[in-house]
Amino acid sequence: MEKNFVCKGDICYSKDARTLETCKDGYLVCENGVCAGVFTKLPEKYSAFALLDVTGKLILPGFIDLHVHAPQYDYRGLGMDLELLEWLDIHTFPEEAKYADPLYAKGKYAQFVSEMRKSPNTRGCIFATVHRQSTEILMNLLEESGLIAMVGKVNMDRNSPDSLREKSAEVSALDTIQWIAQISGKYTRVTPILTPRFLPSCSDELMKRLAEIQRQYRLPVQSHLSENPAEIAWVRELSPESRNYGDAYDRFGLFGGKECPTIMAHCVWSDEEEIVQMKERGVFIAHCPESNTNLASGIAPAKRYLEEGISMGLGSDVAGGTRCSLFFAMAEAIRVSKLRWRLVDATWAPLTVPEVFYLATMGGGAFFGKVGTFLPGYEMDAFVLDDSRYHRPEEYRIEERLERAIYLSEDRDVLHKFVGGRQIF
Ligand code: GUN
Ligand code: FE
Repeated sequence: MEKNFVCKGDICYSKDARTLETCKDGYLVCENGVCAGVFTKLPEKYSAFALLDVTGKLILPGFIDLHVHAPQYDYRGLGMDLELLEWLDIHTFPEEAKYADPLYAKGKYAQFVSEMRKSPNTRGCIFATVHRQSTEILMNLLEESGLIAMVGKVNMDRNSPDSLREKSAEVSALDTIQWIAQISGKYTRVTPILTPRFLPSCSDELMKRLAEIQRQYRLPVQSHLSENPAEIAWVRELSPESRNYGDAYDRFGLFGGKECPTIMAHCVWSDEEEIVQMKERGVFIAHCPESNTNLASGIAPAKRYLEEGISMGLGSDVAGGTRCSLFFAMAEAIRVSKLRWRLVDATWAPLTVPEVFYLATMGGGAFFGKVGTFLPGYEMDAFVLDDSRYHRPEEYRIEERLERAIYLSEDRDVLHKFVGGRQIF
């Protein structure tokens, strides 16, 4: 379908973090790949646009997975009785080492991309592995799929097995520069993001080199922050001069600010100072509730972050999480926020349906620009959901149908998907 089209159905999108807008039998108009608006009656000037009539189906903005590991897709659901550091050693690192083989990578990455393509997610910020060639294979597959993604070749030069660890900071930095050169100008929908795995796996020398690369190529950055108590204690040992975990990134200039758009996954245990710093620097938090439960990391104070106006989206964190579809993360975010409110801190009420929907769409979408809703001027990311498998849609309000979709829908219910103004199925 061309970049001018109209989609007719039951439309739902966020106006802000607390407000859902709905339109029954509405017209969603895409002009030059960008949303022109939602109308109850189609304005005459759009009457010549191609019409996709999905009357009775839900039309929702695409979801943005702000944190996911593509090479971990294959072993989802394994080692869920372990905590983070043991899980990395036993499952993650040995599996990621296999991506040194481009043929292995091609097969496994094809499965991940196929799954993501079918899901309601339209964009993602994706960790690959340290391997330059395999990372490029992942980027090729994503570009072919029509999805939009930021992809990172992972950097790690310490505290990991020989089979995976890069030989030195110098090797890691040079490989990263070569990777950037190799993919420069190659893609229209896939872009690089600098990806120091986490503080424990990056030496000071490597962090310095990555900061130079970040400034030279003006790349965004993604990493992990304050996920698990044992990890945080380890960072304190490795970086005793830092005031907190975030400061250990900040010392190298890799912690947000206008020139360094940054996503930090988890932020379960961030202290007051770290929270203030994330807010001041505009650091995006990728809230990954399923992963935080599976790896017994804890419950991030997502409601507080939202109330304080900190930039935030949702992450599947596959394979800490098991499901790519952010519907699953939305349900998990609500569930764990209820447990936190009941068991930990009654100050912050549980997350609501409009709030988690906002996080999965506009919240994460903001990292990509004007993305994640159907307000005029936003890039057109959308999907059509058939919710008739589990109820009679006409018996429910659109808000209720959205809530039920969060808990009940499956990828097979996604009938059509639009990414950056283009229909991919
Ligand atoms: N911290 C460092 N690496 C990882 C990873 O692969 N997954 C998660 N959840 N946390 C990490
Ligand atoms: Fe992660």
